[in-house]
Amino acid sequence: TKDKNGIEVVVLRSPRGASARVSLHGGQVLSWKTDRGEELLFTSSKAIFKPPAAVRGGIPICFPQFGNRGALEQHGFARNKIWVIDRNPPPLHPNDSDGKSYIDLLLKPSQEDLKVWPHSFEFRLRVALAADGYLTMISRIRNINCKPFSFSIAYHTYFSVSDISEVRVEGLETRDYLDNLYQRERFTEQGDALTFESEVDRVYLNSTHTVAVFNHEIKRTIVIRKEGLPDVVVWNPWEKKSKLLLDFGDEEYKHMLCVDGAAIEKPITLKPGEEWTGRLELSVVNST
Ligand code: BG6
Repeated sequence: TKDKNGIEVVVLRSPRGASARVSLHGGQVLSWKTDRGEELLFTSSKAIFKPPAAVRGGIPICFPQFGNRGALEQHGFARNKIWVIDRNPPPLHPNDSDGKSYIDLLLKPSQEDLKVWPHSFEFRLRVALAADGYLTMISRIRNINCKPFSFSIAYHTYFSVSDISEVRVEGLETRDYLDNLYQRERFTEQGDALTFESEVDRVYLNSTHTVAVFNHEIKRTIVIRKEGLPDVVVWNPWEKKSKLLLDFGDEEYKHMLCVDGAAIEKPITLKPGEEWTGRLELSVVNST
């Protein structure tokens, strides 16, 4: 199918009725629904679905830069580009295909990208929906240049939450984090689980492989499993910053939380011909 700007969107469906929508704009997952039809991702009612703008919601991929840590535009260019469907991807492990509905996408730098970031790469993304509704995103990034390069990456996942004041994030206890609200100063997390009552903009470092987001009111837990992605971004703009974001409603911060699997603090370096793989798996547990 196509969205209203004519950009192709691929719909994945599981036999039990879970679904995911993946746009070629940014290689971005825009929707992920359970077999009961519940939407698990947040998308702003003010989102702009027109490149080169990035879409506010779903799972934009920040690459090759996170935030404004380098010379590139905020969060890098990958989320603003039109990716192509990769008809003949190099094989992955059978577990990444068997019994799954999936799509393979590919991003290569344009001439314009090479001017701002002079490194030839192939970024292959598989988005897979398992029969039980799990969503997996596998990124393979290959250096096809003759010089090494380094990059950062984040799956900037906007989870839909019923009420941010009822949400807890577990799995980041005792971790160090860089606080973007304090010039990236390094702090150590003290509390049991994270709860939210003001703006949060942090990069947790070297977290365990699993992080869980609890949504008490609606008894939903989302489990994030990750490989190759040591860091976890946690972001909510809260009241004041929401008003500054043009493509975000003033009250929408109450209904979203970004929790990203990421590799930020220690950029990944690839020698010529080398490939890096990063994996994110999202699953949902409804406790009724
Ligand atoms: C966060 C950054 O992860 O992403 C924030 O740390 C930023 O500073 C947010 O505001 C959203 O970024 P953008 O470019 O999508 O508005």
